[in-house]
Amino acid sequence: MGTMVAPSLLAANFLNLERDIEMLNRSEADWIHLDIMDGVFVPNISFGFPVIDLLKKATQKPLDVHLMIVQPEKFINEIAATGATYMNVHYEACIHLHRVVQEIRKKGMKPVVTLNPHTPVSVLEDILPDLDMVLLMSVNPGFGGQQFIEHSVRKTAMLKEMILRQQTSTLIEVDGGINLETGKRLVDAGADVLVAGSFVFSSEHPEETIHQLKML
Ligand code: DX5
Ligand code: ZN
Repeated sequence: MGTMVAPSLLAANFLNLERDIEMLNRSEADWIHLDIMDGVFVPNISFGFPVIDLLKKATQKPLDVHLMIVQPEKFINEIAATGATYMNVHYEACIHLHRVVQEIRKKGMKPVVTLNPHTPVSVLEDILPDLDMVLLMSVNPGFGGQQFIEHSVRKTAMLKEMILRQQTSTLIEVDGGINLETGKRLVDAGADVLVAGSFVFSSEHPEETIHQLKML
């Protein structure tokens, strides 16, 4: 009930994307999480604007765009034009993070800052009030289907503590290696939104799996 779920399209069947999107539309998924990779920031390349644009036409669900790219500030206008709700940029990819966050908001999107597994939550102390959400990576970004990094549970709790102390309404989203077991521990530690790729799309009954994640 309280937990929000954002299935990652990376694990969908790209030859049958329409079928998978219809499944997501019928499901209780809150948002659709889109993983954009440039082969520079991460050692993989995924999909780009043509797919996002088509997807926007095929769903009413809010789009949560996770940019694993260098210089994400170059694409703020283009991402805004897709109709995306959340624009996630990596802390590690932005020298002038505060400016990027302001520009994302100016374009009508909700700014999210993503942290790689090695980046401590303490780097967000001064920017937390400007963010709608923080995305904690619980795997090293670049690929679906990786093993959950255990420290992410403690990290979620530390971020929750910072949010309560600063009295902001920032959401906590966690991404990578999430299933019912890791998801439950993250929710108990304070996570509001769970991203799940392979766990949803490799399950026999993806809609039911999304429902179960929402019940955590
Ligand atoms: C990893 C991506 C994730 C990924 C999650 O670089 O940011 O969103 O698709 O996939 P699973 O849930 O399979 O770990
Ligand atoms: Zn992601």
